[in-house]
Amino acid sequence: KCCQLHCNRSCAMNPSIKKDVAKVVDIVEIEDITKEKVSYCRCWRSKKFPLCDGSHNAYNEETGDNTGPIVLKHKQK
Ligand code: FES
Repeated sequence: KCCQLHCNRSCAMNPSIKKDVAKVVDIVEIEDITKEKVSYCRCWRSKKFPLCDGSHNAYNEETGDNTGPIVLKHKQK
């Protein structure tokens, strides 16, 4: 299957999210982040995309990759 490390075939980074649009763009207003921190998916496997749901762990285990979320957090005062 595709998406293995050292794969010589080209493959899509995004396997299933919003495949009906030409480009997936998610805009989050910073003021709408009310929690102390929020994690956003960078592995394209989250069922809560664009939020991280931990699916990167299974993906990394399966592929040997090392992807993880980007975490936005409010600056400590
Ligand atoms: Fe994709 Fe966590 S689920 S980075």
